[in-house]
Amino acid sequence: MTKDPNIICVPESATIKDAMASIHESGIRVALIVNDDKKLVGVITDGDIREGLLLKGKTFDSPVAEIMNKNPTTATKDTPASILLETMLEKSIYEIPILNEDGIVTDIILLSELKQIPLAKQDITAKEVEAINEVLNSPYLSIGPKAEEFEAAVAKYVGVKHAVAVNSGTSGLHLLVRAFDIKDGDEVITTPFSFIASANAALFERAKPIFVDIDEKTLCIDPAEIEEKITPRTKAILPVHAFGYPADMDAISEIAKKHNLVVIEDAAEALGSAYKGRKAGSLGDGAIFGFYPNKQITTGEGGMVLTDNEEVAKLCRSMRNQGREEGGGWFNAVRLGYNYRMHELSAALGVVQMSRIDEMLQRRMNVANLYTTHLKSIEDVITPYLGPDTKMSWFVYVIRLNPEKFSRKERGEIIKRLGEHGISSREYFSSIHLQPLYVQMFGYKEGDFPITERVANSTIALPFHNNLTEAEIKYVSDTLKSALEEIKG
Ligand SMILES: Cc1ncc(COP(=O)(O)O)c(C=O)c1O
Repeated sequence: MTKDPNIICVPESATIKDAMASIHESGIRVALIVNDDKKLVGVITDGDIREGLLLKGKTFDSPVAEIMNKNPTTATKDTPASILLETMLEKSIYEIPILNEDGIVTDIILLSELKQIPLAKQDITAKEVEAINEVLNSPYLSIGPKAEEFEAAVAKYVGVKHAVAVNSGTSGLHLLVRAFDIKDGDEVITTPFSFIASANAALFERAKPIFVDIDEKTLCIDPAEIEEKITPRTKAILPVHAFGYPADMDAISEIAKKHNLVVIEDAAEALGSAYKGRKAGSLGDGAIFGFYPNKQITTGEGGMVLTDNEEVAKLCRSMRNQGREEGGGWFNAVRLGYNYRMHELSAALGVVQMSRIDEMLQRRMNVANLYTTHLKSIEDVITPYLGPDTKMSWFVYVIRLNPEKFSRKERGEIIKRLGEHGISSREYFSSIHLQPLYVQMFGYKEGDFPITERVANSTIALPFHNNLTEAEIKYVSDTLKSALEEIKG
């Protein structure tokens, strides 16, 4: 990309073809039109050119002056970046020419230089900072009152008897696998459309994850296909509430009951979601949440095990703390355990975040609704499914591109283009069975779980956090729309 005025500026007498050459050479999607005194008289974007050629009957040889914008927004080198940014977002423009006092182009500012919209961002207020400071000044940095307070807050919110705070969602899954005595050679039925930790949890104990493809609407495990995968070695079903959307837990629990299987609910992404009026985290024999910074609430790193089963809770408490028994001594391990404890700084963060959860989930819902409003008219964009009987707690906002029209490669190109405009986005998830570890271990290949693969090849997670503004959402949506149009010519 170059901002050289000799390249980005074309004379008033130039043709559309000349402007296209300038845009091509500069790598900026706009050409600036200047008069003989080098003063700016108009701008022309690649979109104006397309419109001119396709809709206004212009040809490559038509003068740019016929379709240029004669009243472009401009600024001077002294205009503060915050004003430039606000103007660009408000007017949905991606470039502002900078002029000197004579109206001559000296520079051009691109929105992507001013604005980086991150994929996710935690929501930390002065209250969290204060709570952490309090812990730092207390005698307990670990094994203290904050973890217990956090556990009680989450258990009450979800409506379960026991909550055990741990240092990650992955640790929580491991503890549940151990607590339910899942071991070498056992099989755990789960989804290939998830974060890898949900399947790895079985591997930790040399059990085998057995994948069942997903429902294309909900993106969660398809209960209709579970029973045919059950063998005498099956011990558990491990559904994942993908992106916060609850899996069909009634159907899953019925199958589990019939075959005497345990249900481990991976609710890492679903704090606050509900299925038929019951909260995620209370729907299986045991469940976990994750509190990584992109989650609904964060503790930096962290997780929580939830269960109504007292024995399971006791085992998890013991195993997260080196296998010590509650009330037992420091050097008195009674079983194999780990250090999966959540420290007090994390727990203090969690306590404050839980006190704000309703407000935070509401903000997330507003952001999601605004996205849906701005995106729903864009052809070939599939917005997230919201079904009956479920309450969505928004973890991420993931759209899908029409898989009939956009290839995986084109999806990559769109993510790249969004990045060029300062917008972080990513594919989410990629199929677990096709990750190198699983290919090496189990020989999976493309086509093994076609729905998961089709979905995984077409998703884009857009920037999503509590404080995303409507102007930012509009900017992301408009940029996505332009990128889709550009890719499909
Ligand atoms: C579905 C799912 N399961 C498990 C985990 C693991 O949680 P953690 O990163 O806290 O270990 C995550 C984390 O993102 C997740 O999304």
